Amino acid sequence: MSFLRVENLCVDLKGSGDRLLRGVSLNVGAGEVMGLVGESGAGKSMIGKAILGILPRSAGVVDGVIELDGENLLALPPKVRRQRIGAKAALIPQDPLTALNPSRRIAPQITDRLVDILGWDRARANDRAREILAEVHIADPDRVLRSYPHELSGGMRQRILIASAFAAEPKLIVADEPTTALDVTVQKQILRLIRDMQARHGTALLFVTHDLGVVAKICQKMTVLYGGLVVEQTDVHGFFRAPAHPYSRALLAATPRHDDPAASLNPVPDDIIQAVRAEVAAADRNWRNG
Ligand SMILES: Nc1ncnc2c1ncn2[C@@H]1O[C@H](COP(=O)(O)OP(=O)(O)OP(=O)(O)O)[C@@H](O)[C@H]1O
Ligand SMILES: [Mg+2]
Repeated sequence: MSFLRVENLCVDLKGSGDRLLRGVSLNVGAGEVMGLVGESGAGKSMIGKAILGILPRSAGVVDGVIELDGENLLALPPKVRRQRIGAKAALIPQDPLTALNPSRRIAPQITDRLVDILGWDRARANDRAREILAEVHIADPDRVLRSYPHELSGGMRQRILIASAFAAEPKLIVADEPTTALDVTVQKQILRLIRDMQARHGTALLFVTHDLGVVAKICQKMTVLYGGLVVEQTDVHGFFRAPAHPYSRALLAATPRHDDPAASLNPVPDDIIQAVRAEVAAADRNWRNG
């Protein structure tokens, strides 16, 4: 059984009614890693935010099911939903510089969630923070817990956010481009850390990225999105052997090769973009005609 089951998820922009997610369905099993790929604006982050209940105020779920651990989150009262999500899921955000509050020390930024959502006492939460920082290879957890974010490097802050995401032993983590904001040299270490932590804890992971090279390294399954529509969903080996959809093939051809970064890129050709846009328009017609 899937730990996360998303079925026909539709998200609209309030007011205009513009559709941002067009009937997205995906399943992530316990301990499984699913990559979510697509160009900028495809709706990758919206999916993660809908699952975690942190959609921007301007957007709303208008249809679908988001089932976490067998329970439809959208059918729960908001307070219960927040509690369930807090206990079972967590986010590794994109930008470690803005994700931490600059005016607070690190300790409460890790422990508040454990205290508020899981009801732990402060001493237990502090022990856990120390333990989980050591697990992400932070040599001096006590010093780091007393520090303010600006006293720490970007890579260090991302380690803290990773530790924080794993602190309450969630069964699902959404990682939204967790290495994009970092130096290239740090990216590899952070990616390896996420993969190691995921494997050790057996956490299901929804990994948002536009980097197919990263998908090849850490994911078992992947979902390709365009314009809020699922274009292809497959296992990663199958995708790299033979992507089924013309748009996926073009996306693969447009991916810089890590072994030869100087190789010229083939942008996704216009006719392929036109064709996938026509699919998006057809999906909208179907939905309007009920
Ligand atoms: N706060 C917001 N209010 C209204 N629309 C938004 C908001 N954030 C994103 N959108 C729109 O929702 C759609 C999906 O955006 P989303 O952020 O999910 O894309 P993405 O695939 O994560 O792109 P990127 O790779 O740039 O992060 C886009 O059309 C975008 O313009
Ligand atoms: Mg995004």
